[in-house]
Amino acid sequence: MRRAHAVLIKRGLLLSSNQVEYSLLDRRVEKNGLLAQCHELGITCIAYSPIAKGVLSGKYSSRHPLIWAAQPQISWKYLNQIEPLIQLLQEIGQSHDDKTPAQVAINWVICKGALPIPGVKTLQQALENLGALGWRLSEDEVAALDHMTDQNPSLRGNHAHHRIRRHTFQSPGSPFH
Ligand SMILES: NC(=O)c1ccc[n+]([C@@H]2O[C@H](COP(=O)([O-])OP(=O)(O)OC[C@H]3O[C@@H](n4cnc5c(N)ncnc54)[C@H](OP(=O)(O)O)[C@@H]3O)[C@@H](O)[C@H]2O)c1
Repeated sequence: MRRAHAVLIKRGLLLSSNQVEYSLLDRRVEKNGLLAQCHELGITCIAYSPIAKGVLSGKYSSRHPLIWAAQPQISWKYLNQIEPLIQLLQEIGQSHDDKTPAQVAINWVICKGALPIPGVKTLQQALENLGALGWRLSEDEVAALDHMTDQNPSLRGNHAHHRIRRHTFQSPGSPFH
């Protein structure tokens, strides 16, 4: 990115954005310095999959067995591993006029100085995700969420939610099995 930026500058152009995967379940851009470079060079870091394809909404959880049952490719073990993070998202959301975990997860990306582009399948999801705007997590809340993902060995591995894909392809009955 730095090279591309330098080449473009020489031609009087600016690299305006870089789109990368970034969420509480995939913090590689923080760890590898890309986000910091974006800030340094004035490049907008566009964060795709900011709610980890729906996982950070908390809808796939042991407390929502019906929804989980519709997604058997997501392992019970994985759901248990991310449960503390979902709980923290819920707790933090409650202290912000009952914001949902998805809204808190998207706001966390904004607080990191990136531009989240959540995907939606329904109008309700679009409206809910819009509720991530117009307020901000406190620094302590951002730090608590950072700490949670840093401390949890199963989340620290980054792009943790990609395990869902692996389970999808490997689940019995899948054409990829
Ligand atoms: N540049 C790239 O390589 C790249 C790669 C991937 C995606 N993208 C872009 O990034 C954007 C979004 O990424 P993404 O769709 O992968 O991930 P995401 O925003 O993390 O997840 C979106 C999915 O989560 C579910 N969802 C959304 N809002 C929800 C809510 N409030 N509550 C519960 N579930 C909710 C929906 O799927 P369900 O209803 O099916 O659960 C939705 O399709 C898209 O515009 C996409 O084009 C770019």
